[in-house]
Amino acid sequence: MKDIVAIYPGSFDPVTNGHLDLIHRGAKLFDRLIVAIARNLDKGEPLFDLDERKEMLQAMTADLDNVSVEVFDGLLVTYCVQKNANAVLRGIRAVSDYEFELQMALMNRKMEPRVETVFMMPAEKYSYLSSRIVREIARLGGPLNGLVPEMVEQRVRRKVAQKQSTLVGTHPK
Ligand code: PNS
Repeated sequence: MKDIVAIYPGSFDPVTNGHLDLIHRGAKLFDRLIVAIARNLDKGEPLFDLDERKEMLQAMTADLDNVSVEVFDGLLVTYCVQKNANAVLRGIRAVSDYEFELQMALMNRKMEPRVETVFMMPAEKYSYLSSRIVREIARLGGPLNGLVPEMVEQRVRRKVAQKQSTLVGTHPK
């Protein structure tokens, strides 16, 4: 039997219940699942640094024996080859995700035909959920229950408060 190693890449800023739903599904399907946090993203200043994101993901997946969490640099397909991974796992929530995911999957296949992209759907209740929405709700003081684990919520609240107090400190009156 083939040992299937899959990489679940993303920015995870922060990890949401939707990500965790997909990690649980992937852990059942694959022999090994590596959750891989991308270092270089053209997304501007992140809320959490890489170590913080890794720490939260590790805490939330500690009960899954075949799941590990790493940080990667550069091209995803190069990292897959380094790790002897045969698959990339990505979540598709709604039709709006499809175009970008298709482009990425086909480009990755063109660069590295040995790696297959596997798409899975999270539970419907997470189909509107994203890290970006979580950050925005947190900045505006809205409720995060059900969107992220409690420990992540506390860290998001603390981080947003920290960033907002730093901003207040730097603005002239
Ligand atoms: O959580 P995200 O932001 O949707 O994740 C996007 C990610 C990290 C999977 C994607 O940007 C990526 O694979 N980055 C690594 C660099 C790379 O390989 N780029 C070419 C993709 S075709």
